[in-house]
Amino acid sequence: MSLSNFINEPILELRRREARDALQAGMAALEPRLPLRVPMLIGAERTEGDDLVSTDPGNPDRPVALAPLATPADAGRAVEVAAAYAPRWAATPASDRAQALVRAAGWMRDRRHELAALCVRECAKPWAEADGDVAEAIDFLEYYARGALALDRGATIIQVPGEKNTMRYAARGVCVVIAPWNFPVAIPTGMVSAALATGNTAVLKPAEQSPGCGAMVVEALRAGGVPADAIGLLPGEGDVGAALVADPRVQTIAFTGSAPVGLGILRAAAEAPEGQMHLKRVVAEMGGKNCVIVDSDADLDDAVPAIVRSAFVYAGQKCSAAARVLVHEAIADALVERVAGAVQTLQVGQADSFGTDLGPVIEREAQERVERYTRLAAEQGTIAARHAGALPERGWFCAPTVATGLPQGSPVLVEEIFGPVLAIESVRNVEEALDRVDGLPYALTGGLFSRNPITVERVAARTPVGNLYVNRHITGAMVGRQPFGGNRLSGTGTKAGGPDYLLQFVEPRVVTENTVRHGLVV
Ligand SMILES: NC(=O)c1ccc[n+]([C@@H]2O[C@H](COP(=O)([O-])OP(=O)(O)OC[C@H]3O[C@@H](n4cnc5c(N)ncnc54)[C@H](O)[C@@H]3O)[C@@H](O)[C@H]2O)c1
Repeated sequence: MSLSNFINEPILELRRREARDALQAGMAALEPRLPLRVPMLIGAERTEGDDLVSTDPGNPDRPVALAPLATPADAGRAVEVAAAYAPRWAATPASDRAQALVRAAGWMRDRRHELAALCVRECAKPWAEADGDVAEAIDFLEYYARGALALDRGATIIQVPGEKNTMRYAARGVCVVIAPWNFPVAIPTGMVSAALATGNTAVLKPAEQSPGCGAMVVEALRAGGVPADAIGLLPGEGDVGAALVADPRVQTIAFTGSAPVGLGILRAAAEAPEGQMHLKRVVAEMGGKNCVIVDSDADLDDAVPAIVRSAFVYAGQKCSAAARVLVHEAIADALVERVAGAVQTLQVGQADSFGTDLGPVIEREAQERVERYTRLAAEQGTIAARHAGALPERGWFCAPTVATGLPQGSPVLVEEIFGPVLAIESVRNVEEALDRVDGLPYALTGGLFSRNPITVERVAARTPVGNLYVNRHITGAMVGRQPFGGNRLSGTGTKAGGPDYLLQFVEPRVVTENTVRHGLVV
């Protein structure tokens, strides 16, 4: 089987009325179905319940999905089914698996507007972000389908007369996927489809904040033809994730989420209890504290809107969002003034309203966390800007805030806030900025604004971040174009949506055959 070359799913152009109308029609189709009944899926077994409820962050009284709360015992049963089916799925031709993923992409494409509407309701993604989330999920399915076919052909290695060498990539077995809520369709789709494309069975535990979106991922895959036993769904909380990680039948853990949880998973996965005959592999994509360096020759007409977009769109709740700006002292005052002005022009409002730049944060706990850091920023430094417009009365809204004058070592400068708070610091030169970037435990994304190619080269060579963006915003990595993932405590260095990603889900096997034989036995 061959598939056409991969191309990214086109993003909707929301300035066009037809695109906006289509999304609104998606919302109109979704609303009467809310709250969604999200099942727990273990093989053919389907269990409904309402112990886990996701709500609209912009209107917390509105339930979006009702699901059963999976237990650690359910996790064990789901792994059992996935483990029993793993040999059959691994033996399924790679082309059949790829076809199933491509059909799942088609299923999502057909429901694209309704899926985006669900991201708006369940996770308060503004429309453009919600559309991007679904498009990225489609990209992952299409990209990994193609990647797995290429991997299935094996590696090219050296051959000499009298010897035949082959190098193949075999599925590892059961992969558990533990996902966050901030890309509620794209991230679980990416991790699950990588596992399935390469012949592993998978059990998905979506974030407790977004079971509705997680369920759509599994529904798409099953509709595409992935057998029920190859993909399970466990709506639940951290305890279910922990039970999945600890299960000795699990081979691979694909996790995206915060660094503290990821570190705990890495520790737990290192255990090899009696009877477990393999080492678990952990693919972990974790948090960030992303810095944008602005040199004295930067064009502020470019830098200011890009910084504001990177820091505040989706209320700063992207792992790639800008958290710190390190600006050359010669232009620091001008930059702060312009960013402060731009913050006042942001549209803070309900996610379902076109034109909203930032909606609410995901939950009350997140709102409290953002407020805590904002208070600390006011105590330790200066609040240079705080969005002055009235915030909607209901929902977990936070005013976008810019802080300056913070002392090095302040938790506001070091810890991941995951909300609309941006710190701006003045530096003597780019070297000092790089020292500060180098002093951070996180190394996910970074930005640079400079018009000097030598500066660009120097920063690219020295920065530890996984994704550096030069003279543009630092969010919005595209599958295949910007393979994405961080280093240091930001992750295990794997690149989602890149050419190496699938290697995490397979084990290489080499066969060397002596071909100087004395006859064949037939
Ligand atoms: N690097 C990336 O590509 C990337 C992408 C998106 C989000 N993130 C990060 O994700 C975080 C936000 O997401 P979140 O709030 O959902 O993160 P989180 O770490 O709180 O939760 C992530 C998932 O882990 C589960 N979990 C919680 N405790 C667990 C445990 N002990 N064992 C196993 N699983 C457990 C949760 O239920 C959830 O499904 C931020 O830190 C953000 O930077 C990183």
